[in-house]
Amino acid sequence: MNDLPQRDRKVCWHPYTQHQLDPEPLAVVSAKEATLTLADGTEMLDAISSWWANLHGHARPEITAAMAEQSAKLDHIMFAGFTHEPAVRLAEELVDLTPEGLSRVFYSDNGSTAVEVGLKAVYQTWVRRGEPSRTVFLALKGGYHGDTFGAMSVGEPDPFFAEFSPFLFHVVRVAPNMDAVEAALADLEGRVAGFILEPLVQGAAGMKMHGVDFLKSLRACCTRNRIFLIADEVMTGFGRTGHLFACNAANIAPDVMCLAKGLTGGIFPLSATVVTEEIYSAFLSDERAKAFFHGHTFTGNPIGCAVGLASLEILRREDTPAKLQQIGDRLHAQLKDMEQLDGVMEIRQCGGIVAIELQTEDQGYLAGLGETLRAGCRAQKHVLLRPLGNVMYAMPPSCTTDEEVDRIATALREVVEGVLA
Ligand SMILES: Cc1ncc(COP(=O)(O)O)c(C=O)c1O
Repeated sequence: MNDLPQRDRKVCWHPYTQHQLDPEPLAVVSAKEATLTLADGTEMLDAISSWWANLHGHARPEITAAMAEQSAKLDHIMFAGFTHEPAVRLAEELVDLTPEGLSRVFYSDNGSTAVEVGLKAVYQTWVRRGEPSRTVFLALKGGYHGDTFGAMSVGEPDPFFAEFSPFLFHVVRVAPNMDAVEAALADLEGRVAGFILEPLVQGAAGMKMHGVDFLKSLRACCTRNRIFLIADEVMTGFGRTGHLFACNAANIAPDVMCLAKGLTGGIFPLSATVVTEEIYSAFLSDERAKAFFHGHTFTGNPIGCAVGLASLEILRREDTPAKLQQIGDRLHAQLKDMEQLDGVMEIRQCGGIVAIELQTEDQGYLAGLGETLRAGCRAQKHVLLRPLGNVMYAMPPSCTTDEEVDRIATALREVVEGVLA
């Protein structure tokens, strides 16, 4: 086991990793609740929920049991021409839980494809309605929606996607304020298909937060201008913001909601794009060619759906959004005095997400300061933290105990104070 990093180095290519600079990956042998155990026996708190996915903690018995039971019964079947209980039940539950008007569930296997499906469905709805010139999407500055081409197009090009610009479609990015939105719409009169955003919290942008008033006004504006609103709740969904969905905080219903990560409690690759009947029915036709030609081999995978159902059952029983809110409140209470420190720009919280933004000349994911923060995080042997450029943050799973929350707060403080010293 100790030679794992060496074997890894010979054959693996890791995501978002500069293999010439980054240190060897940490070998993990097991995970239980909020704790990861490394090959050398080190225990580490998962303060960022394994890339914002893990919702209730690792190795929840209800989830592993559902997975084992479902895989013994029906492990996989294609979802074109077939259906099964876990997919139908999970779709029923999602229709029930998501805001009013969202009535059809299209499954895929990750957040990027959930977004891809949403963008394609929205554009093709306009095509079916005889308005194919609506080829522009509006999005928020700094947004991140995944790494497939459609998702890259609507995301902020810098720093990750700029080199792909010849292949990306026309997107106009605006700041989260209504003057900017109205100005863009006036400019693009009749050419906009939809507006996509991460509601309340823009994760990869550095946990940037906007208010519910903006969401309410944006919903009204999209309705007025007859454009579709796509809520990418891949990160914010299932309680992260203290609400079941971020859209619920503003009491709005988008036309499309993209869900992944926490959909399965963050442990199985399954995603869902939930759309209105209006969008679904645009694809109904006597002509076969008017169907939605999109699908993945593992669309609606029964094990993933069973895991999703088990996760939702825990979420309801334990009131996960409330638990995450309490965790965020406790973290925030311990960190808020750091706003007084020279070099700290802002401490912000939304539900179970708490972020510390440091002052820097060069902001963003690859900010120079990020290198120093990364080193500081690595030095925290017992708490898993990763900076987003000049932003440090925590987003622990809902099982995190008070004592563990306090250790996360201490680790965050140590990293930030170490950098500012
Ligand atoms: C808001 C948002 N949308 C989409 C994605 C892409 O999800 P995935 O990595 O599962 O493709 C992410 C991933 O972090 C995300 O935060």
